[in-house]
Amino acid sequence: MSVLIKDDAPHLIVIGGTSGIGLALALQHQKLGWQVTIVGSNENKITKLNLEHPDIRTYRCDLTDLIQRQRLMTELSKVRFERLIYSAGSYTNERVHTLNQVDSEQILAINLQAFQDIFSWASQQLKSQALEGDKAHADKLSLLCIASIAGTLDYPYASLYAKSKRAMIATSSAYRIALAPFHIQVTCIASGYIDTQALRDLNNGDASHKPFIISIDKAVSHIMQAIDNNVELGVFPRPMRYIVHALNHLPKPLLNRLLRAKVDKDN
Ligand SMILES: NC(=O)c1ccc[n+]([C@@H]2O[C@H](COP(=O)([O-])OP(=O)(O)OC[C@H]3O[C@@H](n4cnc5c(N)ncnc54)[C@H](OP(=O)(O)O)[C@@H]3O)[C@@H](O)[C@H]2O)c1
Repeated sequence: MSVLIKDDAPHLIVIGGTSGIGLALALQHQKLGWQVTIVGSNENKITKLNLEHPDIRTYRCDLTDLIQRQRLMTELSKVRFERLIYSAGSYTNERVHTLNQVDSEQILAINLQAFQDIFSWASQQLKSQALEGDKAHADKLSLLCIASIAGTLDYPYASLYAKSKRAMIATSSAYRIALAPFHIQVTCIASGYIDTQALRDLNNGDASHKPFIISIDKAVSHIMQAIDNNVELGVFPRPMRYIVHALNHLPKPLLNRLLRAKVDKDN
């Protein structure tokens, strides 16, 4: 479906928007009248996007490559935008397969290092706009990142994925305080399982056995609500939120023992 987007409409950039949650959020914003720019590394996904959504601008960049990352930020500095969503992420069945060197570098680069670079750059861009005092869409200046509920639990046997998402949650929280004087909203999403193709691919095509898994549509609706309500950390679905809350209130030695037993069982 093609939507008529005005030239002066607010502009969203989605880093990691070529598939899954990032793409769903991009399309939702487009439906609401936003101009959209999407970044990803997969050539096939970008070609398909360009065919199906010619009104969405795309940039190809491998975020694990420092030079490409810097080139991307230089290019995107020419684009005026009001909101940036960092949805790029890399995950494996770390609990099932031992973390190898390639996965280790990939997870660290995408979930943590590129995220830090992009958030730092994007916050400067939004701050400059806030200081210019341009009233158009000033209420929409915002940064959003997609972490994971795995990052909300503090325990020693956490995976690299969980630790990098935990760092993302902490970083986002710091940016939220730092950008408040500039009236820039910062929200982080710590979601449970979402039924995306990437998650299905990791589970032999079917992720329906994952506890409390939700559809992409449901996830988009939770995320849009978190943005609208200016939530600092959006944790969903509700049963997962209660479980994590309860686990975080257990005495640390007991939590560690429980999760150690779970890790041993999974392996
Ligand atoms: N699905 C879940 O259950 C779940 C739950 C909690 C949190 N999350 C988080 O949600 C985010 C999206 O996950 P998803 O399930 O929607 O998976 P996805 O479809 O694989 O989305 C990941 C996005 O990151 C991009 N990306 C990956 N590596 C990249 C690279 N080297 N350079 C540039 N872009 C890269 C991908 O684009 P290209 O393929 O084009 O490179 C894609 O657009 C991730 O951060 C994930 O950790 C997912």
